[in-house]
Amino acid sequence: MKLNLDLACASKPEWIAAVMQDFDAFLQDHADCERKASAMAMSFVAKYPDRLAIIPELIDTAVEELEHFRQVYALMRKRGVTLPKQMREDPYAKALVKRCKSSREERFLDRLLVASVMETRGAERFKMVSEAQDDPEMHRFYKILWASEAKHGHIFVKMALHYFDEKRVYDRLAWWIAEEAKVLNNLSIRAALH
Ligand SMILES: [Fe+2]
Ligand SMILES: [Fe+2]
Repeated sequence: MKLNLDLACASKPEWIAAVMQDFDAFLQDHADCERKASAMAMSFVAKYPDRLAIIPELIDTAVEELEHFRQVYALMRKRGVTLPKQMREDPYAKALVKRCKSSREERFLDRLLVASVMETRGAERFKMVSEAQDDPEMHRFYKILWASEAKHGHIFVKMALHYFDEKRVYDRLAWWIAEEAKVLNNLSIRAALH
């Protein structure tokens, strides 16, 4: 059973057009997002070492994201693309994190739900990237990533349900889904994951 909620809006065709127009720039940003997703999963472990029930899944998620980073980096090198000296900050992640509540328990819930929503958006966008590829290898690669991020979108809600009751989790997740659509629609379109 899928635990995460569907997104409130689909990504625009203009977004995938921008990505396909400068795929090397997209790859640089994509690699960075995978690296940050791995670090984010491990930051839960560092911040909440007492939440024993979710630590194994957080570690697994961090390892999977790091593996995605390794794969995207290998793809970049094959195309002669390097990691940029400095990545632009991610206005999408920044806007979402800014909306998280500040007390310890509420923040814990919000950070888990933000992670779920970001993963669900990542899955939606990797599906679009997969479908836009002519090369069967690239099509397959992004299809695998799409499935993996969709699974992560589900896992973070599962973690939230371990510590908070269902109504609270889903009321708040519905709020986040609506907020995420607002944040996304305020972003300028570029060859990046967000
Ligand atoms: Fe990933
Ligand atoms: Fe992920």
